Amino acid sequence: MSLNKKILEEINKLVWSSPKKLFTAGPVACFPEVLEAMKIQMFSHRSKEYRALHKDTIERLEKFLEVKEGKVLLFPSSGTGIMEASIRNFVQIKGNVLVTIIGAFGERYKEVVEANGRKAITLVKNPGDPVFPDDLEEALVKNPEVEAVTITYNETSTGVLNPLKELSYVAKKHGKLVFVDAVSAMGAAEIKFDEWGMDVVFSSSQKAFGLPPGLAIGVFSKEALKKAEKITNRGWYFDVLEYVKTQEEEWSTPSTPPIPQIIGLNVILRMIEEMGGKKQWLNMYNERAEMIRNGVKRLGLEIFARRGYESPTITCVKVPVNIDGYEIYERMRKRGYELAAGYGPFKKTTFRIGHMGYITKEDIEGMLNNLAIVLEEMLK
Ligand SMILES: Cc1ncc(COP(=O)(O)O)c(C=O)c1O
Repeated sequence: MSLNKKILEEINKLVWSSPKKLFTAGPVACFPEVLEAMKIQMFSHRSKEYRALHKDTIERLEKFLEVKEGKVLLFPSSGTGIMEASIRNFVQIKGNVLVTIIGAFGERYKEVVEANGRKAITLVKNPGDPVFPDDLEEALVKNPEVEAVTITYNETSTGVLNPLKELSYVAKKHGKLVFVDAVSAMGAAEIKFDEWGMDVVFSSSQKAFGLPPGLAIGVFSKEALKKAEKITNRGWYFDVLEYVKTQEEEWSTPSTPPIPQIIGLNVILRMIEEMGGKKQWLNMYNERAEMIRNGVKRLGLEIFARRGYESPTITCVKVPVNIDGYEIYERMRKRGYELAAGYGPFKKTTFRIGHMGYITKEDIEGMLNNLAIVLEEMLK
């Protein structure tokens, strides 16, 4: 056996000892076209070839996210990097931020605000519920001093999609900056950056675009970038103004970018265009989500999210009394289907089915059939 083949086999044994279909919360299964393109040999991120790749990718993202006024930037990090950057670049030291919390990732935003020496004022909803525009209106009337509002577009821990357009409208009416964690939404839920009036929207590569982890995508408004000029201590690695400068001057990033992921993103954006554009792509996501929700309901299970606010990327399912949600996760894993366990306090009472990345209709049917068998076994 050639050395190459031997090493590959060893690595495969380490991470893929048994075949599994991924219905995870991320990283998700990547599209084969993406993995194929990511094998391309590396080159310098200061070369003219890289500049062409970077520019082309940004322009395709601008189209997908409907950005004409803002700046789309690429970061060599996971999405949380931009979460931290939003606070360090656009909120004054000791400034106040209204953090809306509908689950674990809203909690994370609060921690990030506090870890960076700013004050978090929280608006917390019951798990399963979104933030309603009236909730935000009330919180902003009570806390007029906040500089910004954070919104988790899609709360991965509970499978709830917030009404982002409406929330952004309320925050803007009060003159606040709007920071949006779109980590598990971008690429599957609509985003109209200019029209909806947001200031920072960020995501990670390993979610709805179906790429490997390591790349974060951020969009920033002119208003936010103007404010950053007056903020001291923006740091170095995540100084957004440095990213703008390097992109404007040389279509690159201040430090080395994850070139394979950027190639992968470029491939996906081209595939979306070939499919017919954003509408068709988002329809694909909605159809998948509906197929999974309907399948789960047919098995007599309930969806955790409030009706009308169900996520297009992850379905959180309530388990029947006396059944352990984590055991469902484990039994499905043994059957070759990697779902996502319930998050934090809901580990036993729920389990989650991710629908991002490379998943076929047949995979969904297979997963639902196996889920039916697992439930039958456990309810015996
Ligand atoms: C809604 C949400 N926000 C933030 C994160 C953190 O993203 P990353 O791990 O890319 O930093 C995740 C990851 O699952 C997420 O789902």
